[in-house]
Amino acid sequence: MIESIYQTLAKIGYTHPLHPPATHLPAGLIIGAFVFALIAWIFNRKNLAQTARHCLVLALVMAVPTILLGLMDWQHRFGGAYLFEIKMKLVLGGILLLLLLVAVVYASLAGAFTKTVMAIYALCLLTVIGLGYFGGELVYGTKTPVGEEIKGLAAEGAQVFNQKCSVCHHTDSTAIKVGPGLKGIFKQDKFPMSGLSVSDENFRKQLKTPFSKMPPFGHLSDEQVNTLIDYLKTL
Ligand code: HEC
Repeated sequence: MIESIYQTLAKIGYTHPLHPPATHLPAGLIIGAFVFALIAWIFNRKNLAQTARHCLVLALVMAVPTILLGLMDWQHRFGGAYLFEIKMKLVLGGILLLLLLVAVVYASLAGAFTKTVMAIYALCLLTVIGLGYFGGELVYGTKTPVGEEIKGLAAEGAQVFNQKCSVCHHTDSTAIKVGPGLKGIFKQDKFPMSGLSVSDENFRKQLKTPFSKMPPFGHLSDEQVNTLIDYLKTL
């Protein structure tokens, strides 16, 4: 069901994950709410307190689809693997949803703009910063530096690897991260998990129909897969 959504999107030319662009709506609204609330608090401007509240209500509404898209991306891109960053995002996402609910309900009950309301706004902002940080770590944090000696197709492969594979695979060891470390993978006789003989063919097979828990990468173009093979052969 989830896969068919991504396949349909790929057909109309969209292959990017869905959650990262969606996050800007609630995140932007929460930053806006905080700024408006701060000005309202310092300069005692009631109308801006109202603006801040409106921003938070909208943020609460937008947070729901954003979280759902995040869960979908997690299944699609990371096979539902419990990476550290994902765990942090699940916890912080839950906290943020609660904080937004409290902020919206409390603000409408309390009526007046109090220190407590300001504190809740600040906590919402901090949680958003945390979510953004771990999101960034997930996408950019585990990049392996591409050595000077890696050139041409292999360098392109290194980029594909950093985007799609490095969250789950080390390149400088054979230790397990989520999947096995891939150092020297093409210099071995057998692939570590399936025990299949090492060949370009069996590698393609692992990407299309993974041996066990790895998410499939059937959507990669032949060219991308070839660059990946070139890169992995340099490890
Ligand atoms: C969400 C984590 C995850 C991602 C992302 C991921 N893998 Fe894996 N990979 C695994 C796991 C887990 C295994 C163990 C075997 C299995 O579950 O299929 C594995 C196994 C492998 C193997 C060994 C297969 C075998 O037969 O023993 C290779 C090679 C591999 N991955 C390459 C890649 C490449 C290339 C990418 C990026 C296009 C990638 N992986 C992305 C988790 C991941």
